[in-house]
Amino acid sequence: MSGLRVVVTGATGRMGGAVVEAAAERGHEVVAVTETAPMDVPDVDETFAGSDLRAALEDADVLVDFTVPEASLDYVSTAAEAGVPCVVGTTGFGEEGTSRLREASGRVPVLKAANFARGVQALLRAVHAAVDALPGYDIELTETHHNGKRDAPSGTALTVLDEIDDARGDDPERVYGREGEQPREDGEVGVHVRRAGDVRGEHEVLLAGNEEVLTLAHRAESRGVWAAGSLDAAEWLVGRTPGYYGFGDVLGGERT
Ligand SMILES: NC(=O)c1ccc[n+]([C@@H]2O[C@H](COP(=O)([O-])OP(=O)(O)OC[C@H]3O[C@@H](n4cnc5c(N)ncnc54)[C@H](OP(=O)(O)O)[C@@H]3O)[C@@H](O)[C@H]2O)c1
Repeated sequence: MSGLRVVVTGATGRMGGAVVEAAAERGHEVVAVTETAPMDVPDVDETFAGSDLRAALEDADVLVDFTVPEASLDYVSTAAEAGVPCVVGTTGFGEEGTSRLREASGRVPVLKAANFARGVQALLRAVHAAVDALPGYDIELTETHHNGKRDAPSGTALTVLDEIDDARGDDPERVYGREGEQPREDGEVGVHVRRAGDVRGEHEVLLAGNEEVLTLAHRAESRGVWAAGSLDAAEWLVGRTPGYYGFGDVLGGERT
């Protein structure tokens, strides 16, 4: 589907820039929204400051947001008032932020995903199957991202951890890093976070027991993979009824 009017918030950010570029390549009309004064953003038809979001949303088909939780909640609530569907890629909302997104989804379709890579959807399924098949094995999760990432663990790591809980049917203790005298307790899930350089995003789940180790891992090679997924989601979302959707809905599965 081409020719949508797509409003991209956080247009000068790492992800916003990738979305602008990908949307222009797909033949969409791109409206860039930046936090302060409109800046010169390549591949863009119109630019607006965040404070003028209402004007930017005029005749818009969909909003795609990769910013920070506080900005995202403001943008989504303005879009909901204007009747514009929202694709939210921002992570780190916490419970209150998530419930505000759900509230907005009573008025417009809102699609939120911590990871718009198709490979991560496959990883979630693989993790579920592995945990199911290997009861009692120790589980450790490690994620690595660039040094500018704010939230930790990543939204994707939290989604993978929820998937592990779901597969085990319990609520295992999550142990974030270890230091000093800290032997592993039965059933706990270790979580390890690394921040370095410009690593796009890596997630690895390790299952060990029975004198064997299984690792399941995903690595994003470029931000283009998430930009493409978010636009697939945006194209899918236009014309839907209000509700809270995930990327799995776009791909025909049930997850995130
Ligand atoms: N779902 C996924 O697949 C996926 C993939 C990668 C990253 N992410 C998430 O996407 C988000 C953005 O990541 P990024 O690497 O693009 O970050 P980034 O490069 O730091 O960009 C964030 C942008 O948000 C805008 N912004 C920041 N503070 C703001 C404020 N107070 N008010 C309004 N706008 C503000 C700024 O853009 P302007 O000045 O243009 O407004 C900034 O450039 C993060 O939450 C990250 O975890 C999600």
